[in-house]
Amino acid sequence: MTRSAAHFVTETSLQAVAGQRVRRDLWDAEAEAAMGHIELARWADAVVVAPATAHVIARLAAGLADDLLTTVCLATTAPLFLAPAMNRQMWEHRTVQRNLASLKDAGAVILGPGEGDQACGETGPGRMLEPAEIVAVLAGHLAQGPKPMDGLNVLLTAGPTREPIDPVRYISNHSSGKQGFALARAARDAGANVTLVSGPVGIETPAGIRRIDVTTAREMYAAVEAELPETDIFIGVAAVADYRPEEMQDQKIKKPGDSSDMWIGLRENPDILARAAEVCSCAIGFAAETHDTLRHARDKLARKGCAAIVLNDVSDEDIGFDSDRNAVTFIEPSGETVFPIDSKETVAEKLIDAIALLFRRRNNTTRGDLTRQA
Ligand code: CTP
Repeated sequence: MTRSAAHFVTETSLQAVAGQRVRRDLWDAEAEAAMGHIELARWADAVVVAPATAHVIARLAAGLADDLLTTVCLATTAPLFLAPAMNRQMWEHRTVQRNLASLKDAGAVILGPGEGDQACGETGPGRMLEPAEIVAVLAGHLAQGPKPMDGLNVLLTAGPTREPIDPVRYISNHSSGKQGFALARAARDAGANVTLVSGPVGIETPAGIRRIDVTTAREMYAAVEAELPETDIFIGVAAVADYRPEEMQDQKIKKPGDSSDMWIGLRENPDILARAAEVCSCAIGFAAETHDTLRHARDKLARKGCAAIVLNDVSDEDIGFDSDRNAVTFIEPSGETVFPIDSKETVAEKLIDAIALLFRRRNNTTRGDLTRQA
């Protein structure tokens, strides 16, 4: 604990929760006799500063060693993780960003921050990542041995697209983005460099993932097109609107007033998955179907020229669009694997293993741990 930490939580409560002695003072003779600060620095597998305030970040960037925390951070050879937490104006301040850049340069990993409501009443970037998210990223960093997607560049699309009719109306669908974001996290944990092109969803960006926000299908197409040359694996999870209004009206459309019907002309959107499959040898699609599911999914696999299709039966309410659970069938030209109902996280992990295996087979490589899937 730093001096400031003691303003938020007492040593006694932290000790009770952690079940460990809390260390605060560089000059605590008793603690130093048991495990000195240099021993502490040597003992750690990883050092995580959570929450990392603007002040601590500044002290670390300057290389100060004026308390136990900064001394340990300076003396350790273990990887250093910082989970910033501060008011959004402070987060955006150039000095803070400069300090973070110099810490990154020195090898620190910055976790987050997330966006949302802040203790000061404001809303924006600067919230500490949820503890579970910090643990997940750490687990990924510290996992031993090769991972199934080590070093691969994975590009995903997620969420719905919105196709504007006029300044206040649009065509869209019920996609929540949950499955796409879960797959992005699973790919990250499998060692991939992940870029996520997301339609409008209310989900925070997972740590360690590059996110590009888009609204329309055509914006999503352009963002994907720009990333494809560097992509090893493409996973199209987004529920892309197949059609857009042929013209967006500049002004709000008014009712004609004579009770007559209204017609909106639609134009077909470009197919992002089909384009990705032309460039990338491992393009994976999703098929959200309500009837004749296998036939439609196999048809899509052939039509779009992708390496595999993940079939999602959205007629089942338990695994529908906004659910936290899912059940899918992974369809390759050579056969099918069923992943029964489970959390979207677990389904994502299994799918990422299957996709990594498929990538290795198609590229004839043995890199990574292929035994997990077997
Ligand atoms: N997809 C895409 N670009 C589009 C339409 C769909 O990349 N313009 C992708 C989706 O991300 C998904 C897959 O294609 O991975 C299947 O999408 P779906 O809408 O179910 O397929 P369609 O070809 O539109 O077939 P249909 O709507 O007739 O079921």
